[in-house]
Amino acid sequence: MAKTKILFFCQNCGAQSSKWIGNCPACNEWNTYVEEVIHKESPKSFGLSGNSLRDKIKPRLINDFELNSENRIDTSSEELNRVLGGGMVAGSLILIGGEPGIGKSTLMLQLALKMNKIKVLYVTGEESGQQIKMRSERVKLSSDHCYILTETSTQNIFSQVEQLKPDVLIIDSIQTLHTDYIESSAGSISQVRECAAELQKYSKITQTPVFLIGHITKDGSLAGPKILEHMVDTVLQFEGDRNYGYRILRSTKNRFGSTSELGIFEMLSNGLREVSNPSEILISQRDENVSGVAIASTIEGIRPMLIEIQALVSSAAYGTPQRSSTGFDLRRLNMLLAVLEKRSGFRLGAKDVFLNIAGGIKIVDPALDLAVVCAILSSSEDIAIDQKNCFAAEVGLSGEIRPVNRIDHRILEAEKLGFTQIFVSKYNVKGIDIDHPTITITPVNKIEELFQQLFT
Ligand code: TYD
Ligand code: MG
Repeated sequence: MAKTKILFFCQNCGAQSSKWIGNCPACNEWNTYVEEVIHKESPKSFGLSGNSLRDKIKPRLINDFELNSENRIDTSSEELNRVLGGGMVAGSLILIGGEPGIGKSTLMLQLALKMNKIKVLYVTGEESGQQIKMRSERVKLSSDHCYILTETSTQNIFSQVEQLKPDVLIIDSIQTLHTDYIESSAGSISQVRECAAELQKYSKITQTPVFLIGHITKDGSLAGPKILEHMVDTVLQFEGDRNYGYRILRSTKNRFGSTSELGIFEMLSNGLREVSNPSEILISQRDENVSGVAIASTIEGIRPMLIEIQALVSSAAYGTPQRSSTGFDLRRLNMLLAVLEKRSGFRLGAKDVFLNIAGGIKIVDPALDLAVVCAILSSSEDIAIDQKNCFAAEVGLSGEIRPVNRIDHRILEAEKLGFTQIFVSKYNVKGIDIDHPTITITPVNKIEELFQQLFT
């Protein structure tokens, strides 16, 4: 007889306790403890029957391990490859989180169908085989190497996996899985943790990359304990604004690559399309110049892109002026407004200010500052900025225009897209080649100086 034990787990952070407590001492949340029954003698074989696999693992000298480029598996999606740091790493566990309906299942199914000559097993606990088939018709892809399994018990999944021996395993989603060794319901902390641990062992032993789709909670963090993020090698967030078709795949943890990479997709009626030149979609096309628009040359990960900042400044109709921002940190906007008011003498205190990053994408790059300031001033003065101008600099608290990293990449990208002038910090032009044939690099030092050049 297996011994059982009752433990209480915080559903927010995964902390455990032998008795129920109202306020979690670890994460300070209230009413998050739930009783779960744990079988003490859970077999250690994580469902892969037989000990043969386990016996294979022996200590080996570090010099005995061989590395070759084949350790990276091409996902046949350039965007996904880049976010993963150059393709999937054999034996890695990759978690993909995102809000419901954002397109996680579509992304994974497209991946499963597109990978050539790679045997993929797509395990789903959320949809039926027919539904998956319908989706594959919709995205107009088919493959002779993609298997679908509708199953939620990890033991059954592993017994199928042992027979099929897939090259890549996709689990949609980790919250629907359950293991027989734990008696709580699917989606609870201990189930999620145990199932993920079983999959982790499977992926490490067999060197199979495993994708886990994970749900996220209301506040945007991955459902399940933080421990899930510690267990996996890579955490990808799939995000986007529902009102726009653009979806951004961001890596927030990556043991095998950079975490500042971005993959951009567009959700169309026939699936997700990769957007390889994001600048084109992030700058709205128009014939005439309008006020309140400035273009920033930003860098996310290794990729430079130009994005459009739109601002609207108008007299506040009510006593307290409103400040609102989409895609840009509101506190940073308030700070920039304070700098404009205090250091440069622009009277914006009684004005409503609305800021928007075109395309509904969220970017964190200090080099946006100067474009934000210029968009605000342009709207406030009602003078348009020439569409062939762009900006790349940070604005400091004293109103000085500060240098940003990798300015040469920003300049090259702007030049490639046909911009004729880029405003940068005066400290950024040292040591870089300012002799560009088609783009003028204009160093600036103070906001007032730039104001003179643009608006008077
Ligand atoms: P889905 O992949 O089911 O999201 P998730 O698994 O993250 O919950 O995506 C579903 C949404 O995507 C749904 O609102 C319909 C839309 N969609 C398209 O617009 N085009 C398509 O080709 C597909 C397959 C889905
Ligand atoms: Mg889904």
